[in-house]
Amino acid sequence: MDQAVGLRKKGNGVTYWNKSPSPSPAVQRQPVRVMSISSGKGGVGKSNVVINLAMAFDQIDQKVLIMDADLGLANIDVLLGLTPKYNISHVLEGEKRLEEVLVDGPGRIRIMPACSGVHELTRLTDEQKLIFLEVLDELEPDIDVLLIDVAAGISDSVLYFNLAAQEKIILVTPEPTSLTDAYALIKVLYTRHGERHFKILANSAKDEKEGKAIFAQISRVADHFLDGLSLDYLGTIPRDSNLPKAVVQQRPLMEAFPESPAAKAFRNLARSINKMPPSVNHGSIQFFWKRLLNA
Ligand SMILES: Nc1ncnc2c1ncn2[C@@H]1O[C@H](COP(=O)(O)OP(=O)(O)O)[C@@H](O)[C@H]1O
Ligand SMILES: [Mg+2]
Repeated sequence: MDQAVGLRKKGNGVTYWNKSPSPSPAVQRQPVRVMSISSGKGGVGKSNVVINLAMAFDQIDQKVLIMDADLGLANIDVLLGLTPKYNISHVLEGEKRLEEVLVDGPGRIRIMPACSGVHELTRLTDEQKLIFLEVLDELEPDIDVLLIDVAAGISDSVLYFNLAAQEKIILVTPEPTSLTDAYALIKVLYTRHGERHFKILANSAKDEKEGKAIFAQISRVADHFLDGLSLDYLGTIPRDSNLPKAVVQQRPLMEAFPESPAAKAFRNLARSINKMPPSVNHGSIQFFWKRLLNA
């Protein structure tokens, strides 16, 4: 059975994350914060937000696992100049162990490379799911935040990741189509799946004032048509000409231009998220995977 999914425990206490020692089991840990970053429309900055927010979390000692759940172009691996050989499907096919699939990013960030949606995950037998969950659970002591870079649009896989994540961040820009497409995503999650809480992050806005105006616009429409929906304003990342420069260099903005306005905004964002209590209704990374696998 172990062979079937290629997951095997190595004696007591598997260490997948060799850069930082795991806290002793006696230490009371905060639950892992599972956040999905989605947008109705592509190209609005999701992957860049995920990477730079991850780096900002890393700087305040929050250990981050990035899950690249978008097979589109120019995603996490390309932005970081990485060429992962394997992805989660290799674990599921029994060809690789999870530790061989995870890629080191900047700082202590780990990256789970993209795989073709959740279809492979949902196809597992119950026994495989259990083994998978068990191994993932062993990662948990080394993760404070799981950031999921979700594809654009309203495909099934986008909806699954949103349903499984505790905190759903929807990225919007000042472009009118970004707003209408974000609304379409929220509406599907609300009407078909009863999701009521979303966090709106404005990106590429001229300043915080414009970011708040974008939020006001989307919450006005939502208030009007979707009863009981609650949208929170999470923050604004300003439009910053250093960001496209960093992308060309295949380096994260936080590293290439740490004093740029957007880098400062990412640091503020990580600090403010860190101060917010994580959703308590489901606290473990296992919970996330269970929801995903049972979707
Ligand atoms: N805050 C920003 N300021 C300036 N340009 C940005 C900003 N955010 C994103 N961009 C531009 O948008 C492009 C697409 O970003 P990306 O993160 O790849 O989007 P997505 O993952 O949503 O498709 C980037 O390469 C960059 O040029
Ligand atoms: Mg992307």
